[in-house]
Amino acid sequence: MTPAPLTGAKILLTGVTGQVAGPLARNLVAAGNTVYGTSRFADADSRAKVEADGVIPVAIDLETASFDEIPDGLDYVINMAVAKSNNFDRDLAANAEGVALLIERVKGVKAFFHCSSCAVYEPNGHVSHVETDDLGDNHRAMGFMTTYSISKIAAESAVKYASKRFGVPAVIARLDVPYGPGHGWPQMMVTLAQMGIPTTISADAPNTHCFLHDRDIFGSLPYLLEQAAIPAPIYNWCAPELVSIEEWTAELTNLTGVEIPLVVSEQCIPPNPVDPSKLLGLGWTPTVEWREGFREMAQNCFPDLFKG
Ligand SMILES: NC(=O)c1ccc[n+]([C@@H]2O[C@H](COP(=O)([O-])OP(=O)(O)OC[C@H]3O[C@@H](n4cnc5c(N)ncnc54)[C@H](OP(=O)(O)O)[C@@H]3O)[C@@H](O)[C@H]2O)c1
Repeated sequence: MTPAPLTGAKILLTGVTGQVAGPLARNLVAAGNTVYGTSRFADADSRAKVEADGVIPVAIDLETASFDEIPDGLDYVINMAVAKSNNFDRDLAANAEGVALLIERVKGVKAFFHCSSCAVYEPNGHVSHVETDDLGDNHRAMGFMTTYSISKIAAESAVKYASKRFGVPAVIARLDVPYGPGHGWPQMMVTLAQMGIPTTISADAPNTHCFLHDRDIFGSLPYLLEQAAIPAPIYNWCAPELVSIEEWTAELTNLTGVEIPLVVSEQCIPPNPVDPSKLLGLGWTPTVEWREGFREMAQNCFPDLFKG
């Protein structure tokens, strides 16, 4: 059954200055919600930018549990913040302890949505991950995301604990590769290639992943919020199309003319195919096919290069 559209709600959206939550905030505002967007707001510019999107800025710091500005009477919390300092103490404090303390602070909400990552899965070659698969330190090999997988795994446990402890219905969504008209890994690959920086890939080709477009992030949200419960269920969060880096690189070159060097290296994100059957079983259907999303991104981000 189709859930009621998300409108007229008071929503706390954490990580609003981030690449995924920024577009989500604009979509939520456009749908008629009151959106309180959080960041540490280290500079005035970031606060003004968020306000220009119709979002009410709320300064929080998950690492120090500084939550004084959070308003009461919220309907939903959508937790998109993530700390990536590469310092284990700091990132576990923000991503795991911080989220548990945030749940305590907002108890009474209808649902707490926690964005996790498919970086929590133990690499398993070309077998698509389902939610019950083994967990592992998937992103460590990259070299610059040392704390990421472990702190995202710890965060899931912190959400499950705090949800039970404080009686807050929660849902955990493991996002695979987000992208949209203005951001994402494919866009970064083109930008890096323009600077002469290659993309590293595994020797275990094809390097397959699953995308989720901004519009489908927004569109699937009501389906997932409806599943919030105690204990908190877990869903893979992506579209079902399996796309390899090799395949999407060729498409990016077709769209922009930019040659993107792919270099086989152990310092890479391993192939990470994901099975979203559990999410699709809720009745949600993705609306953006990846080539269409890439075309839109290339036109928007690289208008001078775009080969229409
Ligand atoms: N991007 C991807 O490819 C990808 C893939 C799978 C899953 N995900 C998940 O999607 C979510 C969004 O990721 P993203 O890539 O959009 O993140 P991002 O661009 O790195 O943004 C991170 C956000 O978290 C906030 N933040 C960091 N440390 C904080 C702290 N101590 N207290 C409060 N806020 C803090 C940042 O705010 P300030 O720095 O302004 O304070 C920023 O708004 C995360 O849960 C991530 O794990 C992302």
